[in-house]
Amino acid sequence: MKTVLVFVSTLDGKITKWGDPNVKSWSSKEDQNFFNKLWNNNRLLIMGSNTFYLDPIKPNPNHLLVIMTRQPSTYKSYEVLGQLEFRSESPGQLVEHYDKEGHELMLIVGGAHIATSFLREQLVDELWLTIEPKIFGIGCNFVTEEKLDIKLELLSSESVNKQGTLFTKYALIKEHI
Ligand SMILES: NC(=O)c1ccc[n+]([C@@H]2O[C@H](COP(=O)([O-])OP(=O)(O)OC[C@H]3O[C@@H](n4cnc5c(N)ncnc54)[C@H](OP(=O)(O)O)[C@@H]3O)[C@@H](O)[C@H]2O)c1
Repeated sequence: MKTVLVFVSTLDGKITKWGDPNVKSWSSKEDQNFFNKLWNNNRLLIMGSNTFYLDPIKPNPNHLLVIMTRQPSTYKSYEVLGQLEFRSESPGQLVEHYDKEGHELMLIVGGAHIATSFLREQLVDELWLTIEPKIFGIGCNFVTEEKLDIKLELLSSESVNKQGTLFTKYALIKEHI
């Protein structure tokens, strides 16, 4: 199973504008279309409870959306097994579990805490990062503040509009830990 981390960020690495969690207020139409396609065409999606809570997503039989939380019981009223699940396992346990179930792709769609917990354990195969030509100065980064030393290799990059929004794909270089 391939694990892919998906984000849209500014040139200064911000995934939110100032304190506002509404990403669609500043991401390009091209990125929104790309993300919608990814969302619609992939079965297994992983998200952190903070990102979910901002805009609770309805269950959909075409997806298994797994929300990572250390308190799954808090979210019981939202749960629909096989469609929208709340799980407290570690990133490593989730990767092992869904790999064994035969999924080919796991899309990790944020936010920063969840991304960092997968990156820290070298569980991400690729980063698909849309870079919007903007600078916000203040906002969340797509990793939380801690010492990391992760090397990546650019697989592809494409400018998709006249402002120069870039769709990039990077492979994570795994090192022995
Ligand atoms: N620009 C983009 O592409 C993009 C994409 C996604 C999100 N975002 C933004 O990111 C922000 C949210 O990110 P966030 O970092 O605050 O939250 P997050 O990563 O969405 O969720 C973090 C929460 O997940 C739970 N959790 C469960 N297992 C965990 C683990 N192993 N490691 C860490 N957390 C774990 C914890 O909450 P409990 O255990 O208490 O439930 C934790 O507080 C929002 O502002 C959203 O708009 C941007």
